Amino acid sequence: MIKIEKVTKTYITGDQKVEALRGVDLFIDKGEFLSIAGPSGSGKTTLLNLIGCLDKSTSGDIFISGENVGEKSKNELALFRRQKLGFVFQTFNLIPVLTAFENVSFTLALLSMNGSELKDRTMKILKEVGLEGMEHRFPRELSGGQQQRVAIARALVKDPDLVLADEPTANLDSVTGEEILKLMENLNRKHQTTFVFSTHDKMVMDHAKRLVLLHDGLVTKDERR
Ligand SMILES: Nc1ncnc2c1ncn2[C@@H]1O[C@H](COP(=O)(O)OP(=O)(O)OP(=O)(O)O)[C@@H](O)[C@H]1O
Ligand SMILES: [Mg+2]
Repeated sequence: MIKIEKVTKTYITGDQKVEALRGVDLFIDKGEFLSIAGPSGSGKTTLLNLIGCLDKSTSGDIFISGENVGEKSKNELALFRRQKLGFVFQTFNLIPVLTAFENVSFTLALLSMNGSELKDRTMKILKEVGLEGMEHRFPRELSGGQQQRVAIARALVKDPDLVLADEPTANLDSVTGEEILKLMENLNRKHQTTFVFSTHDKMVMDHAKRLVLLHDGLVTKDERR
């Protein structure tokens, strides 16, 4: 489902060059629950941003669901992200002036869905992530863990091929972090959605079905458990 071939990424700022990825090969199957780990600066976020079509590689190819994303225009990439990908961020990234319901249903509205279908799908996924009864609250009226549940609902409501999560538990206490991870595990099992997340957190690594270690922009270990 995701094929990453000889991917490099070099950032150039002024006269400084950083080789963030130096030739990554990775094949990710549908339904995997995969964690990318590695020290700070090893290239985790860079790799997730490339898979998420938020940035372009310097060289090499990335195929998602059979499509070479490097060959797409900006507009095509925006549409591809909207239809096929879900994102969960370290800092939740909810829209503060929208309620939980609106933060989730907004992504369906962008896909031109409305009326009872939009409402039913939004309520169903909010219930699944354990937020029934809280749908009219604003992000500031929710705990960190509850906000991350909204973000997970938002990522999943459109039934994406792939969910990308960059350090999804980094801003949560360990108990809440583990709850969030178990929730993602359940959703992965139930919907067969592919999850790729990055982490520093040992607990998160322990839950992964496959652990890919990055070091200085290269994959140094790839183990399934
Ligand atoms: N937009 C950018 N411009 C220039 N250099 C960047 C940019 N983004 C990342 N880098 C550099 O690329 C390297 C890899 O960064 P990246 O953010 O991918 O690491 P990471 O593994 O996610 O680290 P962390 O665990 O701290 O989040 C680092 O040396 C970083 O300084
Ligand atoms: Mg990072």
